[in-house]
Amino acid sequence: MKTIEIHASTPYEVVIGSGVSAKIGEYLTALGRSGKVMVVSDTHVAPLYGEGVADELVYHGFEPSIFTFDAGEESKSLKTYSELLTFLAEEGFTRTDTVLALGGGVTGDLAGFAAATYMRGIHFVNMPTSLLAAIDSSVGGKTAVDLPAGKNLVGAFYQPELVLFDTDFIKSLPYDEIRNGLGEGVKYAVLEGGEIFNILSSGLTSENLEEFIALSVDAKRKIVEADEWESGMRKLLNLGHTVAHAVETVTDFVVPHGVAVAYGVRVMARLAFDKGELSEEDFYKIEELLLENDLALELNPIEELIPYFSADKKKAGNKLTLVTIAGIGDCRLTEIDIQDVYAYFGV
Ligand SMILES: NC(=O)c1ccc[n+]([C@@H]2O[C@H](COP(=O)([O-])OP(=O)(O)OC[C@H]3O[C@@H](n4cnc5c(N)ncnc54)[C@H](O)[C@@H]3O)[C@@H](O)[C@H]2O)c1
Repeated sequence: MKTIEIHASTPYEVVIGSGVSAKIGEYLTALGRSGKVMVVSDTHVAPLYGEGVADELVYHGFEPSIFTFDAGEESKSLKTYSELLTFLAEEGFTRTDTVLALGGGVTGDLAGFAAATYMRGIHFVNMPTSLLAAIDSSVGGKTAVDLPAGKNLVGAFYQPELVLFDTDFIKSLPYDEIRNGLGEGVKYAVLEGGEIFNILSSGLTSENLEEFIALSVDAKRKIVEADEWESGMRKLLNLGHTVAHAVETVTDFVVPHGVAVAYGVRVMARLAFDKGELSEEDFYKIEELLLENDLALELNPIEELIPYFSADKKKAGNKLTLVTIAGIGDCRLTEIDIQDVYAYFGV
């Protein structure tokens, strides 16, 4: 078991280990929580783990309710958000009660945003169940729902009071979702280098899973603690994301987020290599990393994607901030004028 302390505006622990979900009641009690708990989960995860978590809560004197929504990004919407808020009100939740996310990144983002806004904020605990949520979305306090106009356009910074990841959850995660999580993993490997890069280069196994998640969470911790509100270096976490968001938009979200991020990293590595900013050695190490993780994909050509860059949230005024790769473990923020984007990408 590993515990990482996040010193954000609300400090909290991320606990990672086999079987930790069975201790949710103990953890909530230790936090001083009591009363009602709204377990938010989707139609894939709720049947697998919802009842076990609810039983554990009852055993420790809590009154759980379960809100289940259709699995998938389409549910990260104002409609589901509104249904969740309505259910919280119907069940008589007050500010001393708790929202508990049990699921992937969609669940965490939706439940976190509901917790941030219901009665101007009630207690929030996150139990990620996907690899992507464990290494990335459950930590850092970004919560949101999507609008038809774009992803994550309505949201809040709202830190959880605890993140509890049971590594056993991964056993039921389909291969495609593991690969999707590895896409965000590739991002951390290139941002951080070192052991995260080594683990992913040799392949994720049940033996190194806990270590990999802990290292990824720790990488995010450093960035979030330095820039919680994303005014500067937190933007580094957007490595690969400008391309990724364009791919998601062009393919109508058929390409999942993590896979699109891995492609974004590949495009940025190739660009840096072509510009002479990334060494041949590091470029090929990144290519091998992508190959090892079944993520060396050739998706939409850059000419097709650039028109969507100006809709990116990384744009401010007529400037776009890209995360560029100077080396493994050495990524930088590079601001370019929107009018120069085609030239910058050599198109
Ligand atoms: N808040 C942040 O900082 C942040 C960061 C990165 C991504 N995100 C968001 O995260 C979302 C993507 O997260 P995701 O990939 O986890 O999506 P997801 O929540 O839709 O989960 C992916 C799929 O896996 C299923 N699943 C999850 N855990 C399972 C398990 N243990 N066993 C079986 N099935 C399981 C889900 O039901 C779903 O079908 C996107 O909305 C993205 O915008 C947020």
